[in-house]
Amino acid sequence: MATTTPKTSPEVGGMGHSVKRKEDPRLIRGKGNYVDDVQLPGMLHMDIVRSPYAHAKIKKISTEKAMKVPGVLAVITGETLAQFKLHWMPTLMSDTQMVLPTDRVMYQAQEVAAVVATDRYAAADGVDAVEVEYEPLPVVVDPFKALEPGAPVLRTDKPGKTDNRIFHWEVGDRAGTDAALKASDVVVKEQIYIPRIHVASIETCGCVADFNKINGKLTVYMTTQAPHAIRTVFALVAGHVGLSEEKIRIISPDIGGGFGGKVPVYPGYVIAVAASVVIGKPVKWIEDRMENLQADSFARDYHISAELAAKKDGTITALKIKTVADHGYADAAANPSKFPAGLFSICTGSYDLKNAFAEVDGVYTNKPPGGIAYRCSFRVTEAVHAIERMVDVLAQELKMDPAQLRMKNFIPKDKFPYKSALGWEYDSGDYPAALKKAMDIVGYDALRKEQAEKRKKGELMGIGISSFTEIVGAGPSKHFDILGIKMFDSCELRVHPTGKATARFGTKSQGQGHETTYAQIIAEELGIPAAHVEVEEGDTDTAPYGLGTYASRSTPTAGAAGAIAARKVRDKAKKIAAYLLEVGEDDLVWEPGKFSVKGAPQKSKTIQDIAFAAYTNHPQGMEAGLEAVDYYDPPNLTFPFGSYICVVDIDRGTGEVKVRRFVAVDDCGNIINPMIVDGQIHGGLTMGLAPALYEEITYDEQGNVQGGSFIDYLVPTAMETPKWETDKTVTPSPHHPFGAKGVGESATVGAPPAIANAVVDALSHLGVRHIDIPITPEKVWNILKEKDAAL
Ligand code: CDP
Repeated sequence: MATTTPKTSPEVGGMGHSVKRKEDPRLIRGKGNYVDDVQLPGMLHMDIVRSPYAHAKIKKISTEKAMKVPGVLAVITGETLAQFKLHWMPTLMSDTQMVLPTDRVMYQAQEVAAVVATDRYAAADGVDAVEVEYEPLPVVVDPFKALEPGAPVLRTDKPGKTDNRIFHWEVGDRAGTDAALKASDVVVKEQIYIPRIHVASIETCGCVADFNKINGKLTVYMTTQAPHAIRTVFALVAGHVGLSEEKIRIISPDIGGGFGGKVPVYPGYVIAVAASVVIGKPVKWIEDRMENLQADSFARDYHISAELAAKKDGTITALKIKTVADHGYADAAANPSKFPAGLFSICTGSYDLKNAFAEVDGVYTNKPPGGIAYRCSFRVTEAVHAIERMVDVLAQELKMDPAQLRMKNFIPKDKFPYKSALGWEYDSGDYPAALKKAMDIVGYDALRKEQAEKRKKGELMGIGISSFTEIVGAGPSKHFDILGIKMFDSCELRVHPTGKATARFGTKSQGQGHETTYAQIIAEELGIPAAHVEVEEGDTDTAPYGLGTYASRSTPTAGAAGAIAARKVRDKAKKIAAYLLEVGEDDLVWEPGKFSVKGAPQKSKTIQDIAFAAYTNHPQGMEAGLEAVDYYDPPNLTFPFGSYICVVDIDRGTGEVKVRRFVAVDDCGNIINPMIVDGQIHGGLTMGLAPALYEEITYDEQGNVQGGSFIDYLVPTAMETPKWETDKTVTPSPHHPFGAKGVGESATVGAPPAIANAVVDALSHLGVRHIDIPITPEKVWNILKEKDAAL
């Protein structure tokens, strides 16, 4: 079933063709339409007063001076919103979060008040003129201290709350795993911290809220990855002030990067909506860079304690993981509600082990809400980092080659579908093939020889492997929901009389190229050239209901819906073709783009002929038109995988890590557009390099953010980015309509442990077993000095 040779011609551009991205002429010429491009008549501007303290009582907010600033029309505080019961809102994890505070702030950069003015500059001047009196309170930034008895209880707004634990979640067989650990020949244990990072999308968050007082309709142009879910949340939160779902329209225009950071509702959105409803004019709110880096879109922050057990021969027997998850002041992650720790239970990875147990404690601290699924399917990055680091730690302990150890423990190809010890059913995989291919490309054996030679000369070179398994494409709806809304996705397909089509989806691209790849899916199924299929997403007034784009779910869900909708259209087209050709349906054969009569191929009708007939000459008794809708609820997730090999050289004079080579072999099943998949991998690898070597957000004891600007928060540029070498294997998903798996996040997930493993490998002969990411030159330099290996 593996699709490597396209079935359609390049002119049709179905699956397997590297069709150039339809969206690029607009995006690369600066003609995109982003939310900040939206200009409406009479539009006002909003700016936000933010807290300098991580925890403080608000004693007084004085707005008089701000109201005197020319152009300032309103100052909105928590008290203003409290009159409408809008000062609190639910988070996507059914926790609660302040929109604006009435008495306390809980993290630095928290929204304290908002100023609405006739222009952006007046709004900023107004913000400067708002006077807030704070009384600092004890700050808790360390999640372990937050869990200690006697720690200040942060969420005093929750009646009866006596500690800072948000949830305790566990999965697997604790007793069985403990017994297996005891019975094993070798157990390695490691503390692994995966630091707080930020999605750092080029476009910050923002919206234009436009309430029309005459017809009561609210239109919100918003940088959201999930417009439909947001509309429902708005209706549920603000229904009591008259906002009704049919009167709310969310338009998600072009998005300059989402990466999970644009799934939640942030306070600024709600305040802008409230301001527009009260004032009756459009209100624009756009975060500046520092607000974005300091107040929202944070990910990771997982403190992991892992134990991995094996027999002497390297057979892995058990995995046990205990994690403290720092969520900041509110649990505002966008996880499916049954999964408070996301899909962390994929932590057994690509390995066939019988015993596993994982537990996670979510903790409140005085930091902004975290837990964003940053370019990963709800905590998969954390899980993959843990297992791929631990396998290397075990290899070091056993003095085994890490590639050999992986090969020995991979889930065998013939065991798929495979039921993991923590409950997932992996759909398909061929892990040895991917690793073997990566080893061949990189020249693994020769590199090991080179490393041995270099070590003799005192040079530091390392080779790191990561053989990851992802889990993407939520639903199925029986297990997955966001705030109770089931996770499926949708396509509405209309074929017009002249054989061109419009396809609308419940997802929303943020640069992934859906306008192109979705058109290719329709082209594959119907033979209508991709160039003639217009794809629309992101407008709740027109698109069918869907849960949005994140967690690499678009291809597994909405992409599948597109194929099924097209097949429904094809079924009807067949009836029309039979009528036009005066034969029975069973006498017809389909090839992309036309039905012809069996044994008489000259007697045929193209999809364009059929489309015209559907409106001009359809069989009497049949409904006119040629369209279909599909709401696709996947039977399972898809499990893309890959093997990455990274080669690093370390400068003993500075501690700098240089990635010399990076080979990425990915498998996302059947591929729609090889060029786009390659682009996804390239971008993802760079986003994986970032936390491995550069990015981290930290806080001092007072909860002051360190790294809240691009001066301190190091996003890799072209200068730091190595040449990526990509290749693939193709193992189709057996349950997906066209055998595809998601791919958008594989590289972000798989890359960090490959890089970390390479650095540790370079230093392993000095007795180094683990280094937490980001592996900065300073960290390496300190290790070199400690080991007497610095130049
Ligand atoms: O949900 P998101 O779009 O981020 O992730 P995805 O479904 O993994 O798709 C990312 C991009 O890669 C989309 O344009 C997909 O259509 C494309 N893709 C592909 O061409 N072939 C695949 N097997 C998987 C994704």
